[in-house]
Amino acid sequence: MTIKQLRSAIQDLKQVALSDISPVAQKQQIYLGKKGQFNLLAKKILDLPLTDRKKAGQLLNDLKSELETILTQTNPAEQEKWIDLSIPGKKPKVGHLHPVSQAINQISRIFEKIGFTRVRYPEVDWDWYVFESLNMPPNHPARDEWETFFVDGPTHPELGKLVLTTHTSNGQVREMERLHGQPPIRMINIARCYRRQQDATHTQMFHQFEGLVVDKGINIQHLKGTLDHFAKEFYGPNTKSRIRPFHFQFTEPSFEVDFSCHICQGTGKVAGNKCRFCKSGWHEVGGAGMVHPNVLKAGGIDASQYTGFAFGWGVERTYSLKEHLNIDDIRLIYSNQSNFLKQF
Ligand code: DAH
Repeated sequence: MTIKQLRSAIQDLKQVALSDISPVAQKQQIYLGKKGQFNLLAKKILDLPLTDRKKAGQLLNDLKSELETILTQTNPAEQEKWIDLSIPGKKPKVGHLHPVSQAINQISRIFEKIGFTRVRYPEVDWDWYVFESLNMPPNHPARDEWETFFVDGPTHPELGKLVLTTHTSNGQVREMERLHGQPPIRMINIARCYRRQQDATHTQMFHQFEGLVVDKGINIQHLKGTLDHFAKEFYGPNTKSRIRPFHFQFTEPSFEVDFSCHICQGTGKVAGNKCRFCKSGWHEVGGAGMVHPNVLKAGGIDASQYTGFAFGWGVERTYSLKEHLNIDDIRLIYSNQSNFLKQF
């Protein structure tokens, strides 16, 4: 053996001792015991030329003290007295999608099944898309219904001020533009909306989903069929939809949309008493109507050739009416209370 070989044998032995996970007592026996690895190596000193022995002695002394330190370190597995591999493992807590995300996924799938395309448009948008292109000129009183957050910033010479979108209807003219005014359009726009309001049924930030269909010969029956499809898919096969005359600037005619109550099946009565969940047999979920010709024009669509329908509802409200939920305070959904969220 040469001194070079001895050095490398010392390195190897250190490495092996370091990665050995046997219990401490056993390790000390293996490496430092009478017939242990250290002594075996130390004997090799006799193979070395006399001139190298002094150096070799130093190296071996160093190795011994290093081994003494290395071998006192216990490995974590040893600290546990014993491990019973037959005990069932600890289950990691697995989270799940937020109820609003679950609702959005479900709503998207229901409409995608009948040919709608999910789109997303800016949630901070120009006045033009949120109001003016929807047949609400500046200072029109109808704007007051949307308690708008305005963004401090420059006004665009044509598109006006920046606002936090008060509804997903800003997607209507944006979608017409995306398709260069060329129907067919079958869009479902799901996004966050913002209004200056907060109580048990309103949060300042919420979600809406907006449907828009434009093509030749589209009429109210197509709208009603789409509403029925959604009602049955989302709430169950016995759910009915109903439309009631209403007013929106961007649709003519305009409607409010109701779904039949699953508790009283739309009768408003449970065992002779007023249904406590709906009071009237129906739940109002949002608005709908036939797209106003001015809106088609704003999106570059020839209103003499094409017609369309649109609808827009709140995701949280629509979801909270589901049969097993009965959430009476919508603010809970955003409260981050895990006990509440865990239920979904
Ligand atoms: N944007 C309306 C709102 O936020 C809802 C709405 C009504 C949307 C009628 C529509 C519609 O597309 O046709 O109150």
